Amino acid sequence: MGTFDVIQGDITISRVDAIVNAANTTLLGGGGVDGAIHRAAGPDLFAACVPFNGCPTGEARITPGFELPAKWVIHTPGPVWRGGQHGEAALLAACYRYSLQLAVEHGCRTIDFPSLSTGVYGYPLDQAANIAVRTITDWLTAVDVTVRVRLVAFDSQTAAAYREAQQNLT
Ligand code: APR
Repeated sequence: MGTFDVIQGDITISRVDAIVNAANTTLLGGGGVDGAIHRAAGPDLFAACVPFNGCPTGEARITPGFELPAKWVIHTPGPVWRGGQHGEAALLAACYRYSLQLAVEHGCRTIDFPSLSTGVYGYPLDQAANIAVRTITDWLTAVDVTVRVRLVAFDSQTAAAYREAQQNLT
């Protein structure tokens, strides 16, 4: 069990056990939230990612947070939107589930997510929000640890989409 909330802000300042990074399969950084997290964490984050030799879409890898206020960073490559007929929905759900599982395996009880795949990767925001909210709430119902999960939306349009997705659930 646990709680899920949507907030608006900058995930790099989250003082939580783990923040999730919308990475790419190289795990070697990029733009968007990936770039912001690497800039805030410092060069040790990049060095910690190199040994993974990348990560498949839908899986996740965990590193310390280094100079971030968050203890851990969970790097998960979301699916690139290719029209919706290439397993994108299942892969996006897998990112959330895999990241949550990895977080609790490392004793995390507060986890912040960005809006995976809805930036550079072009995933339609309303579809991504519905998948994320459904996956997170189903996972919270199934596990017996108490976890606080938040979606940290960078802008008001994203926040509204995830809040609407939450409303659609109840
Ligand atoms: N805090 C929270 N959310 C943020 C922040 C931030 N500091 N900066 C950006 N975002 C938001 C974006 O506004 C978007 O809503 O993160 C969401 C995901 O967008 P992207 O960062 O573009 O991630 P994604 O669409 O998953 O594409 C991943 O982009 O940066 C590259 O290396 C990354 O190749 C990968 C691809």
